[in-house]
Amino acid sequence: MDRADVLATGPMMQRIEDGVLAHFTVHRLPAPAERDAFLAAVGPRIRGVVAVGHARIDGAFMDRLPKLEIVANMGVGYDSIDAAEAGRRGVIVTNTPDVLTEEVADTALGLLLMTVRELGAAERWLRDGQWAAKGHYPLTRTTLRGRSVGIVGFGRIGRAIAERVEAFGLPVAYHNRRPVAGETRRYYPDLIAMARDVDTLISVLPGGAATHHLIGADVLAALGANGVLINIGRGSVVDEAALVDALDRGVIASAGLDVFEVEPCRPDRLIAHERITLLPHVGSASHHTRDLMGQLVVDNLTSWFGSRRPLTPVAETPWAG
Ligand code: 8YV
Repeated sequence: MDRADVLATGPMMQRIEDGVLAHFTVHRLPAPAERDAFLAAVGPRIRGVVAVGHARIDGAFMDRLPKLEIVANMGVGYDSIDAAEAGRRGVIVTNTPDVLTEEVADTALGLLLMTVRELGAAERWLRDGQWAAKGHYPLTRTTLRGRSVGIVGFGRIGRAIAERVEAFGLPVAYHNRRPVAGETRRYYPDLIAMARDVDTLISVLPGGAATHHLIGADVLAALGANGVLINIGRGSVVDEAALVDALDRGVIASAGLDVFEVEPCRPDRLIAHERITLLPHVGSASHHTRDLMGQLVVDNLTSWFGSRRPLTPVAETPWAG
């Protein structure tokens, strides 16, 4: 295989590091102050990018890499990459679907249970010695029993969450850009209408301009006082200021978030709310699943440079199969 020059935009997990070092000449994007000189010197040789971390890969960045053929993203979400622009330039973008679906769906259910039954707060009660000092943790205001769930974004992860929610005995509806072919669950073209009819929203939406702040004051008001919002997709989908306000005023009951508008972060405004459950973006974060994702990043690169076949190209990619 072609020993191409590839550029890593951030620190690579061991599985990726080992895989790319075995097959490619690897360059590492330096700190912002040194990037310009680095890209001037090395950019013209780069044919592949390993997209890890937060560096934005847009038209201006791709201008510095005139021989770029492929961007292999670590993650199913690729909102840090301008994939449409890559497509216009004939650059392939790949992501890591499927291998993380079940893990993220498992985490979503864990977060839902933690949120409605206040399991994080209950555990802190025990650890802080309050059980012995003050007695039982207070009964939870909310329960999973009797809830109905609306899933926002009904791709592979959304459907895996739906199956789990149904196994807990709860009905599921969904909102998506368009109805999913062959799907029998109730489809809502209008998110506010769905929020009005259910009391639990689980967002699995990707980030980007099309979904920015889709869940704001109006959706939260429609969800109502017993409402629970779970976000396992991208933080930019939820207007955090509106969410804090809704929690302050009792517009909804609680929220469970694995993703935030800015990451990594210490979201003080959210931490201040006792019944909100916060996780540090751990949806897919097990060795098992991250290794599968990392291997898929490597496999996309070796498959492209070995046989010109990307394994999991994104929809905007120029690859026709
Ligand atoms: C990871 C994710 O945070 O796949 C995604 O889109 O959000 C997560 O699985 C991401 O892969 C960065 O490591």
